[in-house]
Amino acid sequence: MICLGIEGTAEKTGVGIVDSDGNILSLVGKQLFPEKGGIHPREAAEHHAKWIPKLISDACDKAKLGLDEIDLVSFSKGPGLGPGLRTTATAARSLSLSINKPIIGVNHCIGHIEIGKLDTSANDPVSLYVSGGNSQIIAYEYGRYRVFGETLDIAIGNALDQFGRETGLGHPGGPVVEKLAKNGSYIDLPYTVKGMDLSFSGLMSAAIRKYKEGIEIEDICYSFQETAFSMLVEVTERALSHTKKDEVLLCGGVAANKRLREMLDDMAEDHFAKFYMPKMEYCGDNGAMIAWLGILMNKSYGPDKIGETNVIQRFR
Ligand code: KG4
Repeated sequence: MICLGIEGTAEKTGVGIVDSDGNILSLVGKQLFPEKGGIHPREAAEHHAKWIPKLISDACDKAKLGLDEIDLVSFSKGPGLGPGLRTTATAARSLSLSINKPIIGVNHCIGHIEIGKLDTSANDPVSLYVSGGNSQIIAYEYGRYRVFGETLDIAIGNALDQFGRETGLGHPGGPVVEKLAKNGSYIDLPYTVKGMDLSFSGLMSAAIRKYKEGIEIEDICYSFQETAFSMLVEVTERALSHTKKDEVLLCGGVAANKRLREMLDDMAEDHFAKFYMPKMEYCGDNGAMIAWLGILMNKSYGPDKIGETNVIQRFR
Protein backbone atom coordinates (compact mmCIF):
# COMPACT_ATOMS: atom_id res chain seq x y z
CA MET A 1 0.00 0.00 0.00
CA ILE A 2 1.19 3.53 -0.82
CA CYS A 3 -0.04 6.49 1.22
CA LEU A 4 0.26 10.21 0.42
CA GLY A 5 0.16 12.33 3.59
CA ILE A 6 -0.53 16.06 3.85
CA GLU A 7 0.66 18.10 6.85
CA GLY A 8 -0.66 21.60 7.61
CA THR A 9 -1.14 22.15 11.34
CA ALA A 10 1.08 25.26 11.59
CA GLU A 11 3.22 27.25 9.18
CA LYS A 12 4.82 24.34 7.37
CA THR A 13 3.09 22.73 4.40
CA GLY A 14 4.35 19.20 3.87
CA VAL A 15 3.60 16.28 1.59
CA GLY A 16 5.14 12.83 1.92
CA ILE A 17 4.66 9.47 0.26
CA VAL A 18 5.36 6.29 2.24
CA ASP A 19 4.74 2.62 1.52
CA SER A 20 3.52 0.00 3.96
CA ASP A 21 7.07 -1.36 4.44
CA GLY A 22 8.04 2.02 5.89
CA ASN A 23 10.00 3.20 2.85
CA ILE A 24 9.83 6.96 2.55
CA LEU A 25 9.42 7.48 -1.18
CA SER A 26 9.32 11.27 -1.09
CA LEU A 27 9.22 14.17 1.31
CA VAL A 28 8.66 17.75 0.18
CA GLY A 29 7.63 20.89 2.03
CA LYS A 30 7.42 24.65 2.06
CA GLN A 31 7.69 26.83 5.16
CA LEU A 32 6.01 30.20 5.62
CA PHE A 33 8.37 32.81 7.07
CA PRO A 34 6.28 35.64 8.56
CA GLU A 35 7.59 39.10 7.58
CA LYS A 36 7.13 40.29 11.13
CA GLY A 37 5.67 38.85 14.33
CA GLY A 38 4.58 35.25 14.74
CA ILE A 39 2.43 32.98 12.62
CA HIS A 40 -0.95 34.36 11.63
CA PRO A 41 -3.43 31.44 11.32
CA ARG A 42 -5.11 32.88 8.20
CA GLU A 43 -1.78 33.50 6.47
CA ALA A 44 -0.69 29.94 7.31
CA ALA A 45 -3.92 28.60 5.73
CA GLU A 46 -3.35 30.72 2.60
CA HIS A 47 0.20 29.35 2.44
CA HIS A 48 -1.14 25.77 2.54
CA ALA A 49 -3.78 26.54 -0.13
CA LYS A 50 -1.08 28.00 -2.36
CA TRP A 51 1.45 25.18 -1.99
CA ILE A 52 -0.42 21.91 -1.45
CA PRO A 53 -1.25 21.26 -5.16
CA LYS A 54 2.36 21.85 -6.28
CA LEU A 55 3.78 19.82 -3.39
CA ILE A 56 1.50 16.86 -4.22
CA SER A 57 2.75 16.93 -7.78
CA ASP A 58 6.41 17.34 -6.67
CA ALA A 59 6.05 14.45 -4.19
CA CYS A 60 4.68 12.17 -6.92
CA ASP A 61 7.46 13.19 -9.32
CA LYS A 62 10.13 12.53 -6.69
CA ALA A 63 8.64 9.12 -5.90
CA LYS A 64 8.26 8.43 -9.65
CA LEU A 65 4.60 7.64 -9.11
CA GLY A 66 1.41 8.69 -10.83
CA LEU A 67 -1.54 9.82 -8.71
CA ASP A 68 -3.34 6.64 -9.79
CA GLU A 69 -0.70 4.64 -7.87
CA ILE A 70 -1.63 6.24 -4.52
CA ASP A 71 -3.79 3.83 -2.46
CA LEU A 72 -4.61 6.07 0.51
CA VAL A 73 -4.66 9.79 1.35
CA SER A 74 -3.93 10.87 4.93
CA PHE A 75 -3.93 14.32 6.52
CA SER A 76 -3.11 15.92 9.88
CA LYS A 77 -6.42 16.56 11.58
CA GLY A 78 -5.03 18.21 14.72
CA PRO A 79 -3.96 19.59 17.04
CA GLY A 80 -3.18 22.74 15.10
CA LEU A 81 -4.37 26.12 13.88
CA GLY A 82 -8.04 25.99 12.80
CA PRO A 83 -7.89 27.68 9.38
CA GLY A 84 -4.88 25.59 8.29
CA LEU A 85 -6.51 22.37 9.48
CA ARG A 86 -9.61 23.15 7.41
CA THR A 87 -7.53 23.89 4.31
CA THR A 88 -5.50 20.70 4.72
CA ALA A 89 -8.59 18.54 5.30
CA THR A 90 -10.32 20.08 2.27
CA ALA A 91 -7.28 19.47 0.07
CA ALA A 92 -7.00 15.85 1.26
CA ARG A 93 -10.71 15.25 0.71
CA SER A 94 -10.56 16.77 -2.78
CA LEU A 95 -7.61 14.57 -3.67
CA SER A 96 -9.23 11.42 -2.30
CA LEU A 97 -12.45 12.12 -4.23
CA SER A 98 -10.64 12.95 -7.46
CA ILE A 99 -8.50 9.80 -7.43
CA ASN A 100 -11.29 7.77 -5.84
CA LYS A 101 -9.13 6.47 -2.97
CA PRO A 102 -9.88 6.26 0.76
CA ILE A 103 -8.94 8.99 3.21
CA ILE A 104 -7.80 8.95 6.83
CA GLY A 105 -7.26 11.83 9.29
CA VAL A 106 -4.45 11.31 11.83
CA ASN A 107 -3.11 12.90 15.03
CA HIS A 108 -0.15 15.19 14.39
CA CYS A 109 1.66 14.46 17.69
CA ILE A 110 1.49 10.69 17.25
CA GLY A 111 2.80 11.22 13.71
CA HIS A 112 5.98 12.73 15.18
CA ILE A 113 6.43 9.72 17.46
CA GLU A 114 5.72 7.05 14.86
CA ILE A 115 8.12 8.54 12.29
CA GLY A 116 10.65 8.78 15.13
CA LYS A 117 10.25 5.07 15.81
CA LEU A 118 10.46 4.29 12.09
CA ASP A 119 13.65 6.29 11.62
CA THR A 120 15.40 4.96 14.73
CA SER A 121 15.27 1.49 16.21
CA ALA A 122 13.14 2.68 19.15
CA ASN A 123 10.37 0.21 19.83
CA ASP A 124 8.35 1.42 22.80
CA PRO A 125 9.73 4.73 24.06
CA VAL A 126 8.66 7.47 26.43
CA SER A 127 8.58 10.38 23.98
CA LEU A 128 9.29 14.03 24.59
CA TYR A 129 7.64 15.94 21.77
CA VAL A 130 8.67 19.60 21.75
CA SER A 131 7.82 22.07 19.02
CA GLY A 132 6.50 25.56 18.33
CA GLY A 133 2.95 24.55 19.22
CA ASN A 134 3.27 21.49 21.47
CA SER A 135 5.19 20.25 24.52
CA GLN A 136 4.07 16.80 25.56
CA ILE A 137 5.44 13.70 27.26
CA ILE A 138 3.71 10.73 25.67
CA ALA A 139 3.99 6.95 26.02
CA TYR A 140 2.04 3.93 24.87
CA GLU A 141 0.39 2.11 27.76
CA TYR A 142 -2.54 -0.28 28.12
CA GLY A 143 -3.23 -0.36 24.38
CA ARG A 144 -3.26 3.38 23.71
CA TYR A 145 -1.09 6.48 23.63
CA ARG A 146 -1.32 8.48 26.86
CA VAL A 147 -0.19 12.04 27.52
CA PHE A 148 1.75 11.84 30.79
CA GLY A 149 2.43 15.55 30.99
CA GLU A 150 2.13 18.67 28.88
CA THR A 151 2.33 22.43 28.93
CA LEU A 152 -0.54 24.19 30.64
CA ASP A 153 -0.02 27.35 28.59
CA ILE A 154 2.42 27.98 25.74
CA ALA A 155 4.75 25.44 24.13
CA ILE A 156 8.51 25.62 24.73
CA GLY A 157 9.16 26.54 21.06
CA ASN A 158 6.56 29.29 21.23
CA ALA A 159 8.14 30.61 24.46
CA LEU A 160 11.58 30.75 22.80
CA ASP A 161 10.12 32.37 19.67
CA GLN A 162 8.19 35.04 21.59
CA PHE A 163 11.27 35.76 23.69
CA GLY A 164 13.27 36.09 20.47
CA ARG A 165 10.79 38.54 18.97
CA GLU A 166 10.51 40.69 22.13
CA THR A 167 14.28 40.97 22.48
CA GLY A 168 15.02 41.66 18.82
CA LEU A 169 16.65 38.28 18.18
CA GLY A 170 14.17 37.58 15.36
CA HIS A 171 12.01 34.58 14.51
CA PRO A 172 12.39 31.70 15.17
CA GLY A 173 14.07 32.40 18.51
CA GLY A 174 15.12 28.83 19.37
CA PRO A 175 18.28 28.55 17.24
CA VAL A 176 19.53 32.07 18.20
CA VAL A 177 18.91 31.43 21.91
CA GLU A 178 20.93 28.20 21.62
CA LYS A 179 23.83 30.06 20.02
CA LEU A 180 23.88 32.90 22.58
CA ALA A 181 23.47 30.48 25.51
CA LYS A 182 26.95 29.06 24.79
CA ASN A 183 28.54 32.20 26.31
CA GLY A 184 26.17 32.74 29.22
CA SER A 185 26.15 32.03 32.93
CA TYR A 186 23.30 31.18 35.25
CA ILE A 187 20.77 33.65 36.67
CA ASP A 188 17.65 32.67 38.59
CA LEU A 189 14.44 32.26 36.54
CA PRO A 190 11.07 30.70 37.55
CA TYR A 191 10.95 26.91 37.40
CA THR A 192 7.34 25.73 37.05
CA VAL A 193 6.49 22.03 37.09
CA LYS A 194 2.96 21.36 38.38
CA GLY A 195 2.53 17.67 39.05
CA MET A 196 3.34 16.17 35.65
CA ASP A 197 2.53 19.38 33.76
CA LEU A 198 4.62 22.37 32.81
CA SER A 199 4.19 26.10 32.43
CA PHE A 200 6.47 28.24 30.27
CA SER A 201 4.68 31.60 30.18
CA GLY A 202 6.01 32.84 33.57
CA LEU A 203 9.54 31.82 32.60
CA MET A 204 9.24 33.64 29.28
CA SER A 205 7.85 36.84 30.86
CA ALA A 206 10.60 36.81 33.49
CA ALA A 207 13.25 36.36 30.80
CA ILE A 208 11.84 39.32 28.84
CA ARG A 209 11.75 41.38 32.06
CA LYS A 210 15.42 40.57 32.76
CA TYR A 211 16.29 41.74 29.24
CA LYS A 212 14.48 45.05 29.83
CA GLU A 213 16.39 45.44 33.11
CA GLY A 214 19.61 45.28 31.13
CA ILE A 215 20.84 41.79 32.13
CA GLU A 216 23.26 40.30 29.57
CA ILE A 217 21.30 38.54 26.82
CA GLU A 218 23.75 35.59 26.85
CA ASP A 219 23.05 34.98 30.55
CA ILE A 220 19.30 35.10 29.99
CA CYS A 221 19.50 32.71 27.03
CA TYR A 222 21.67 30.26 28.99
CA SER A 223 19.36 30.35 32.01
CA PHE A 224 16.19 30.15 29.89
CA GLN A 225 17.47 26.93 28.30
CA GLU A 226 18.77 25.39 31.53
CA THR A 227 15.51 26.11 33.37
CA ALA A 228 13.05 25.11 30.62
CA PHE A 229 14.96 21.98 29.63
CA SER A 230 15.35 20.85 33.25
CA MET A 231 11.58 21.12 33.60
CA LEU A 232 11.04 19.00 30.47
CA VAL A 233 13.62 16.44 31.56
CA GLU A 234 12.12 16.19 35.06
CA VAL A 235 8.67 15.26 33.75
CA THR A 236 10.10 12.87 31.15
CA GLU A 237 12.15 11.21 33.91
CA ARG A 238 9.05 10.71 36.05
CA ALA A 239 7.11 9.22 33.11
CA LEU A 240 10.07 6.91 32.48
CA SER A 241 10.11 5.73 36.09
CA HIS A 242 6.35 5.29 36.13
CA THR A 243 6.16 3.27 32.90
CA LYS A 244 9.40 1.36 33.57
CA LYS A 245 10.26 1.65 29.89
CA ASP A 246 13.86 1.61 28.74
CA GLU A 247 13.77 3.96 25.77
CA VAL A 248 13.48 7.74 25.46
CA LEU A 249 12.64 9.41 22.14
CA LEU A 250 13.05 13.12 21.46
CA CYS A 251 11.08 14.64 18.58
CA GLY A 252 9.67 17.95 17.29
CA GLY A 253 11.52 21.05 16.02
CA VAL A 254 13.08 21.92 19.42
CA ALA A 255 14.94 18.58 19.22
CA ALA A 256 17.42 20.54 17.08
CA ASN A 257 18.79 21.90 20.36
CA LYS A 258 22.03 20.14 21.34
CA ARG A 259 21.79 21.08 25.03
CA LEU A 260 18.32 19.55 25.33
CA ARG A 261 19.57 16.36 23.66
CA GLU A 262 22.53 16.20 26.01
CA MET A 263 20.38 16.66 29.12
CA LEU A 264 17.85 14.07 28.03
CA ASP A 265 20.55 11.63 27.02
CA ASP A 266 22.23 12.01 30.46
CA MET A 267 18.92 11.38 32.23
CA ALA A 268 18.23 8.31 30.07
CA GLU A 269 21.68 6.93 30.85
CA ASP A 270 21.06 7.34 34.60
CA HIS A 271 18.03 5.07 34.16
CA PHE A 272 19.85 2.56 31.91
CA ALA A 273 17.51 3.64 29.11
CA LYS A 274 18.51 4.24 25.49
CA PHE A 275 18.16 7.68 24.00
CA TYR A 276 16.86 8.07 20.42
CA MET A 277 16.28 10.96 18.10
CA PRO A 278 15.21 10.81 14.43
CA LYS A 279 17.07 12.67 11.68
CA MET A 280 16.30 16.40 11.73
CA GLU A 281 14.25 16.21 8.51
CA TYR A 282 11.79 14.00 10.44
CA CYS A 283 11.91 16.07 13.66
CA GLY A 284 10.09 19.12 12.31
CA ASP A 285 6.60 18.98 10.82
CA ASN A 286 6.60 16.91 7.63
CA GLY A 287 4.27 15.01 5.32
CA ALA A 288 6.05 11.65 5.66
CA MET A 289 5.02 11.30 9.32
CA ILE A 290 1.39 11.88 8.33
CA ALA A 291 1.63 9.33 5.50
CA TRP A 292 3.29 6.72 7.74
CA LEU A 293 0.73 7.17 10.53
CA GLY A 294 -1.98 6.92 7.84
CA ILE A 295 -0.60 3.50 6.88
CA LEU A 296 -0.52 2.34 10.54
CA MET A 297 -3.98 3.66 11.44
CA ASN A 298 -5.49 2.26 8.28
CA LYS A 299 -4.02 -1.16 9.08
CA SER A 300 -5.59 -1.11 12.55
CA TYR A 301 -8.88 0.65 11.98
CA GLY A 302 -9.45 1.08 8.23
CA PRO A 303 -10.04 4.45 6.58
CA ASP A 304 -12.44 7.17 7.74
CA LYS A 305 -16.03 6.45 6.91
CA ILE A 306 -17.16 9.96 6.17
CA GLY A 307 -20.88 10.32 6.77
CA GLU A 308 -21.08 7.03 8.68
CA THR A 309 -18.96 7.53 11.79
CA ASN A 310 -18.34 10.47 14.03
CA VAL A 311 -14.71 10.84 12.96
CA ILE A 312 -13.82 13.26 15.80
CA GLN A 313 -15.09 10.85 18.46
CA ARG A 314 -13.21 7.91 16.99
CA PHE A 315 -9.81 9.42 17.66
CA ARG A 316 -10.44 11.00 21.04
O1 KG4 B 1 8.23 21.19 14.98
P1 KG4 B 1 8.57 22.50 14.38
O2 KG4 B 1 9.51 22.48 13.22
O3 KG4 B 1 7.28 23.28 13.91
C1 KG4 B 1 6.30 23.89 14.61
O4 KG4 B 1 5.93 23.50 15.73
O5 KG4 B 1 5.78 24.87 14.02
O6 KG4 B 1 9.21 23.40 15.55
C2 KG4 B 1 9.59 24.72 15.36
C3 KG4 B 1 10.16 25.22 16.69
C4 KG4 B 1 10.29 26.73 16.76
O7 KG4 B 1 9.67 27.19 17.92
C5 KG4 B 1 11.81 26.93 16.84
O8 KG4 B 1 12.21 28.05 17.61
C6 KG4 B 1 12.26 25.65 17.51
O9 KG4 B 1 11.45 24.66 16.94
N1 KG4 B 1 13.69 25.38 17.27
C7 KG4 B 1 14.60 25.35 18.26
C8 KG4 B 1 15.85 25.13 17.63
N2 KG4 B 1 15.64 25.01 16.29
C9 KG4 B 1 14.29 25.17 16.09
N3 KG4 B 1 14.49 25.50 19.58
C10 KG4 B 1 15.61 25.42 20.33
N4 KG4 B 1 16.83 25.22 19.79
C11 KG4 B 1 17.01 25.07 18.46
N5 KG4 B 1 18.22 24.86 17.95
